[in-house]
Amino acid sequence: MKHRRKHAVLLWMLICSGLAEAIEPISTSIAVGMAAALTGFLASYPNILYYFHECCRPEWISFNKTDLNVDLQRKLFGQHIASRIILKAVNGFMNNDNPKKPLVLSLHGWTGTGKNFVSKMIAESLYKEGMNSNFVHVFTSELHFPHAHQIDTYKSQLQQWIKGNVTNCPQSMFIFDEMDKMHPGLIDSIKPYLDYYDKLDGVSYRKAIFIFLSNAGGESIIQTALDFWKAGRGREEIELSDLETALSLSVFNNKKSGLWHTSLIDKNLVDFFVPFLPLEYKHVVQCALAEMEARDLEPDTSIADQVARDLIYFPKSERVFSVTGCKTIVSKLDYYV
Ligand SMILES: Nc1ncnc2c1ncn2[C@@H]1O[C@H](COP(=O)(O)OP(=O)(O)OP(=O)(O)O)[C@@H](O)[C@H]1O
Ligand SMILES: *[C@@H]1O[C@H](CO)[C@@H](O)[C@H](O)[C@H]1NC(C)=O
Ligand SMILES: *[C@@H]1O[C@H](CO)[C@@H](O)[C@H](O)[C@H]1NC(C)=O
Ligand SMILES: [Mg+2]
Repeated sequence: MKHRRKHAVLLWMLICSGLAEAIEPISTSIAVGMAAALTGFLASYPNILYYFHECCRPEWISFNKTDLNVDLQRKLFGQHIASRIILKAVNGFMNNDNPKKPLVLSLHGWTGTGKNFVSKMIAESLYKEGMNSNFVHVFTSELHFPHAHQIDTYKSQLQQWIKGNVTNCPQSMFIFDEMDKMHPGLIDSIKPYLDYYDKLDGVSYRKAIFIFLSNAGGESIIQTALDFWKAGRGREEIELSDLETALSLSVFNNKKSGLWHTSLIDKNLVDFFVPFLPLEYKHVVQCALAEMEARDLEPDTSIADQVARDLIYFPKSERVFSVTGCKTIVSKLDYYV
C-alpha cells in the first residue's frame, strides 16, 4: 500500500510539474518504453485515478466564457448591472496573456443579493473543482482574523499565505468576505499584491484574482433603486453611472467602513466596483423556484408565492425590497415542502 502511494505521488509530480512535456525531445523508443511501463503500472493499480490531485495546469484551470455567461443569465436574478460587469471584467482579464496587475473586483450590496453566489459562479467558470479548488481561498474577517489585538500576526500570516499560494499557482483566487468588517491594517497589508508590480520578491501576482465582498454602499444603492421605482421607471433602466457617484460617496466617506481608511481607492487598485441591487418580490419567487428545481422538486408557483409572502419587505409603506434578499429561502422552503 505504501509503495503504491509513493508511485502515485511520483506520477502526480510528473504530471503536475509539466515534466511530461520536458521529456518530449527524448527518443521515441524511450517514450514508447515509458508508455508501456505506465500502461502496465496503471493496469496493476486500477485505483490510481483516485490519487490524481488537482494541479496548477490548464487541465484544471481554464476559463469558459459560455459557462459563466449561461450561469449569470439563468441563475442570477435581478442583477443586470453586476452580471454585465462581471462577465466583461473576467473575460477581458482571462483573454489578456500579459495583464499588468491582478484582477481586483469589489462587490457591494445589501444582504442576500448574490455576492457570494456570483463569486462561486466565477470560481466554477475558472476551476474544474470550483469553490473546492485548492487554488481558491476564502477569507472571512470574523473567522480568520477575529481579534484586533492580533492584527500584526494576521498581517504577516496573510501575506505569507498569499505569497505561498501564488508561488504555487499564479492563477489563484482570493475572496475576502465581509470586507467592511476587516481591519484597515489588514487591507493595507495586501495592497502591494494588488498593485502594478512586475514582481515582488521574485513572485508575480499579475495572474491572480482578488474579490472583495461587502455591504458597504448598500444603502445608497437601495436609495437609487427606490428613486427609480418611485418615478415609475423600470429596474433595468438603472445604469452603473446612476449608482457610481452615490456608491463612491457612501463607501469612501463612511468612516466606519474599513475601505475608507485605506488607499485602495485613491490608488486605483480596484478595477471594478460591482453594485448589487436589492431584490424584489418577483426575484424572491424566482429564487424559491430555482431552489425547488435544485432539489429535484416539481417547481410549484403557489409554494414559491407563499415563501415570498412570508418575507419582510421595506420601506414599510411601499414594501418593495426584501429585507433578507434571497438569503433565507433555503430554510423557508424546508418549512413548506
Ligand atoms: N440575485 C440572486 N439570484 C439568484 N439567487 C440569489 C440571488 N441573491 C441571492 N441568491 C440566493 O441566496 C443565497 C444567499 O445569497 P448570497 O450568500 O450570495 O448573499 P450575499 O450577497 O453574499 O449576502 P451577505 O451580504 O449577507 O453576505 C444564494 O446562495 C442564492 O441561492
Ligand atoms: C464551455 O462550456 C460549454 C458548456 O458547458 C461547452 O459546451 C464548451 O465546449 C466549453 N468550451 C470550452 C472552450 O471548453
Ligand atoms: C494558502 O492559503 C491557505 C489559506 O487559504 C493557507 O492555509 C496555506 O498555508 C497557504 N499555502 C501556502 C503555501 O502558503
Ligand atoms: Mg455574503
